[in-house]
Amino acid sequence: MNTKFWLVVPAAGVGARMAADRPKQYLRVAGRCILEHTLDCFLDHPGLLGAVVCVAPDDPFWPQLVVASDPRIRRADGGRERADSVLAGLTTLIQEGAAEQDWVLVHDAARPNLAAEDLHRLLESLATDPVGGLLAVPVRDTLKRVGGDGRVCETVDRSVIWQAYTPQMFRLGTLRQVLDQALRQGVTVTDESSAMEWAGHQPRLVEGRADNLKVTRPEDLHYLQRIWCSR
Ligand code: CTP
Ligand code: MG
Repeated sequence: MNTKFWLVVPAAGVGARMAADRPKQYLRVAGRCILEHTLDCFLDHPGLLGAVVCVAPDDPFWPQLVVASDPRIRRADGGRERADSVLAGLTTLIQEGAAEQDWVLVHDAARPNLAAEDLHRLLESLATDPVGGLLAVPVRDTLKRVGGDGRVCETVDRSVIWQAYTPQMFRLGTLRQVLDQALRQGVTVTDESSAMEWAGHQPRLVEGRADNLKVTRPEDLHYLQRIWCSR
């Protein structure tokens, strides 16, 4: 099956936890910046219909990238929170003629190590799903619930706890409507799935690789450098 999809890449964050001289998506690793590596995970895929990259309105770095002039990529103004950026990207897709029924994948600019096999598995697993879903990883470590005094209250059953990754894959029209409503009502939306859950849907989890990490702190960059440069 060759599932067709649109792509939205939120890339309007400032990277406060990375504390670098520029937003982390523009830091270079293995010869290219993080955002270029991220887009590369999708641009060769035969199912890709087109993409929107959501960047800060005054972002001086995006126009300098070669990939910014790729005819399949549009730019949108990102917003205050990640969900605002994603909503702007979805709206741009509709304006570009994408259909409400089309699949859209939302993928963090800061996750440049998405494996082709994970993208393939997500698309295959959800192609006929009525809701959609997301890549996720079961937690590995023993989990503790902590009290205000810094002492363990209990050990949590980790078999039912998964970490939510991206891409997250939903129908464009539904996701846009749900995100818009959630944001208008002041709901905290940390990922697309949480907005869909708020609207009463049950997104499907598709197990992915743990190394599809979100670059957050300087040590994550060092990790990428190590794994990419040893290939
Ligand atoms: N993002 C966005 N618009 C925002 C905030 C975040 O498009 N207003 C994007 C980031 O660029 C990133 C993704 O959402 O690709 C995940 O966010 P996160 O890892 O939290 O990135 P930052 O917000 O940039 O980092 P930090 O929270 O450390 O400031
Ligand atoms: Mg953030």
